[in-house]
Amino acid sequence: AETVTYNWNISWTTANPDGMLERPVIGINGQWPLPVLNLTKGDRVVANVHNGLGNETTSIHWHGFFHHNTTFMDGPPHVVQCEIPPGSTFVYNFTLDQAGLYWYHSHSKGQYPDGLRQALIITDPENPYLGQYDEELVISLSDWYHDQMPDLLKGFISVTNPTGAEPVPKSALMNETQNFELPVQPGKTYLLRIVNVGAFASQYFWIEGHNMSVVEVDGVWTKPNETSMIYLTSAQRYSVLITMKNETTTNYPMVGSMDTDLFDKIPADLNWNVTGWLVYDKQGHRPQPHELEEFDPLDDVYLTPTDGVELYEQPDQVIVLNMSMNNLGDGANYAFFNDITYVSQKVPTLYSVMTTGDAASNPVIYGRDTNSYVLLKDQVIDIVLNNLDTGKHPFHLHGHNFQVLYRSPEEEGFFNATNTTSFPAVPMRRDTFWVKPTGNFLIRFKADNPGVWLFHCHLQFHFDAGLAMTFVEAPREMQQNLKIPQNHYDVCKASGEPVAGN
Ligand code: C2O
Repeated sequence: AETVTYNWNISWTTANPDGMLERPVIGINGQWPLPVLNLTKGDRVVANVHNGLGNETTSIHWHGFFHHNTTFMDGPPHVVQCEIPPGSTFVYNFTLDQAGLYWYHSHSKGQYPDGLRQALIITDPENPYLGQYDEELVISLSDWYHDQMPDLLKGFISVTNPTGAEPVPKSALMNETQNFELPVQPGKTYLLRIVNVGAFASQYFWIEGHNMSVVEVDGVWTKPNETSMIYLTSAQRYSVLITMKNETTTNYPMVGSMDTDLFDKIPADLNWNVTGWLVYDKQGHRPQPHELEEFDPLDDVYLTPTDGVELYEQPDQVIVLNMSMNNLGDGANYAFFNDITYVSQKVPTLYSVMTTGDAASNPVIYGRDTNSYVLLKDQVIDIVLNNLDTGKHPFHLHGHNFQVLYRSPEEEGFFNATNTTSFPAVPMRRDTFWVKPTGNFLIRFKADNPGVWLFHCHLQFHFDAGLAMTFVEAPREMQQNLKIPQNHYDVCKASGEPVAGN
């Protein structure tokens, strides 16, 4: 294990990833697309993040990381830190006790779709598939807008958009471009690591003429599952083994296809596909991808982790979340869990935990609008999510992966325990899972990681419209064990945000 240090200046640069418009994007050290990070389990990461944007605050979230004993390095402003104001530097410093495919992105208001997003790989010394492939390659899928997020959000949460129609992306991207080529060698087997770093659009992904064998989902190694197509919502990851043909004359399209079910209206000029190429031979033939009528991706609910972790025992708490999208009195559309639309507090929730003694176990002190639930150490928690909306939504839990027990078909309505008495003995675990239109799901996790963790819809527009809630997990243990670095408080002072107890 080593210490890996990044010195990052987060600043504006320009890019034209879809070839239609040169626009400002958020880069690192003047570079965009951002660097893919290659780390190893056991490493310490020290990221000195300087906000050189000038006009926006920022933060970095390490999507899918557990941050054992370092919940304050998770990233979300107002939850575990203050916003990093322009001109300030924040130090993320933590060790990696997990492996797999993850990504990093801004967790500040609406920001990552303006560019601050990229894949991150943590190599696993105990990778069960070592020796079964020759090389590892990364594919990111994403969506792209021509307008910048502050403007898109202004239009989205507004009286002029009472139905809450989300802005439709202008383009789909693969590795942040529309001209992605992946040189491959005949006969070789690759571990392809695929992540959707998009703001809104889910994508179907397939490679013409090649099957894939799924072996990892959101950082969890799984028993191999053959498929011709996967479906990735925003923030989801899959790693697949894929073996090349023994020929060199044809190149094969790799297609990412945005799920247009998410769009209220499909603009006439929208090309919802992005095509990259498996390049066997630069001069080779390039057949057009097939038009698909049926989309039949792998169902992740039935994957099995290779570590054999069994279904956790009966839950100590069942948290039922009814999610809806609705108007508030101001005529704009917001999103709700149990009629509460998330509004962040000035004082980060974690800092309130640390300074309130015994009162920290009373969720009321965090303010109604954070929608906080207090969990006790090692409790088993069920989340029942009932989607009262007609859209699909991917939900992400910070600081954990959860067991996936059940996802209902479309239109099943509220979760009904009598429908679903048998759960997988070794359930799939992941950190982002989607619910079908007016359907429901049941997930389960163990509160074994003291921290303040968000649970939210990963569609950036819905997060900003309040589709988020807070788990205050093991407050007593946090008070006893966490040591929040002084740098946190310095950044709060610089940002002019009040800090509890200071
Ligand atoms: Cu990838 Cu709370 O986010």
